[in-house]
Amino acid sequence: MSTPSTPKKLRRIAILTSGGDAPGMNAAIRAAARAALDRGVEVYGVYEGYQGLIDANMKLYKSPRELCNIINKSGTYLYTARCEAFKTPEGMAKVIENCKRRRIDGVIAIGGDGTFRGATDLSKHGIPTIGIPGTIDNDITSTDVTIGFDTAMNTAMNMIDNLRDTCESHARCNVIEVMGRWSGNIALRTGIASGASAIAIPEIPFDEDAAIQKIIAQKEQGKRSFIVVVSEGLVGYAEKLAKTIQEKTAIETKFARLAHIQRGGKPTLQDRLLASELGYTAIQYLFEGKSDIVVCKEDGKIGYKNISDALLVDRMFKKKMTEEEYAALSAEDKEWMEARCAKLLADMQRLYDIANNIC
Ligand code: F6P
Repeated sequence: MSTPSTPKKLRRIAILTSGGDAPGMNAAIRAAARAALDRGVEVYGVYEGYQGLIDANMKLYKSPRELCNIINKSGTYLYTARCEAFKTPEGMAKVIENCKRRRIDGVIAIGGDGTFRGATDLSKHGIPTIGIPGTIDNDITSTDVTIGFDTAMNTAMNMIDNLRDTCESHARCNVIEVMGRWSGNIALRTGIASGASAIAIPEIPFDEDAAIQKIIAQKEQGKRSFIVVVSEGLVGYAEKLAKTIQEKTAIETKFARLAHIQRGGKPTLQDRLLASELGYTAIQYLFEGKSDIVVCKEDGKIGYKNISDALLVDRMFKKKMTEEEYAALSAEDKEWMEARCAKLLADMQRLYDIANNIC
C-alpha cells in the first residue's frame, strides 16, 4: 500500500533514538540531521527517546558542525530509553504540547518495532514521523538489514574466535548464547562465520541428537575444539545444551553468554553506510510529505513501508498474528506479506543447510 504524500514546508524537526542502542545509530542521527540542516531546517536532537519529548529534554542544532566526529562512535549520542509514559494519554498530551511550543513539525525515530509503534502514535496525533530501523537483532521483517546488525555480528564472531582459541588448547567445547531477542539472525550468521559445529535458532527446529552425533564423529576424526552457537530466543536452552553435550560426548563443555558486549564497539563500514543511506532518505521522505512509514532496504534498494504494514508483516513472520488480524488483511496484503515471510524463512533455511554441510 502506498502512503499519500504532499510536499511539505518544514521549519524544525526532531530526531530521537529509542529502545536498545545499536552501533551506527550515531551515523543515522548525523545523516538525518545534516540532510535536514542542508535544506534550511533546524533540528532538535531529543535525549532519551520518547521520554525526551515528554520532558522537553532536547538540544537545538543550527549547524552541521555541531554533529562532528560521531559517525565512528558506538552507542547513541542522544541516549535512549524504553518509555512507558509515552503510551499514556497524559504522556502523549505533553509530547504534543512540547512539539507545538517548539514548532516541531516532523520527527525521525530510530529504533526497533517498539519505536515504530511510538512513531505511528505520533503520526496519528498530527506529527509526521518516520522510523529508521536501528537494532542489532535484524528482526524488522520489512527490511533486509537493520543498523547495528553487522557490527554486532562482527563483535560476536570475534568473541567466539577468542573462545575457539582456548577450546583448541584445552580440547573443549563452548556453547555460546548470542543476542537477537526472538530472532536467530545473529546466531545463524555468526555460527557460520565462526565454523560452529551446530547452530540452534528459534525459526528452524533443532535436532539435538544429530548435533551431538556430529560432535562425536568430529572428535573421532581428530577435532579438538567445538563451537555451538545458540540464539537467546531459545530461552535458557544454551546452558542446558552445554550440560547435555558434556554428558553425552565426554567433552568438557563451557557455556558463555555474550550479552550486551554485542551492543557496543565501533560501527562497521556496512553499518555506517547503511545508517547514512537510511538517515538521508528519511529526510527526503519527510520533505515529500510522507509520514507513518519506516525506511527499509530490500534487495539493495532503499524504499519504505507503512508502519502498520511493517508491524503486521512482523507479527506474521514471528507467528504472533491473530486469526482476526489475518482475516482483516486484503488479498493484496496477504500476498506480499506471505511472500516476504516465505522469502526470509527460505533464506534462513538456505544458510542453515549450508552451515550443517560445512562444519
Ligand atoms: O533489541 C536489542 C537487544 O539487545 C536484544 O538482543 C536483547 O534481547 C535486548 O535488547 C536486551 O535488552 P536490554 O538492553 O533492555 O537488556
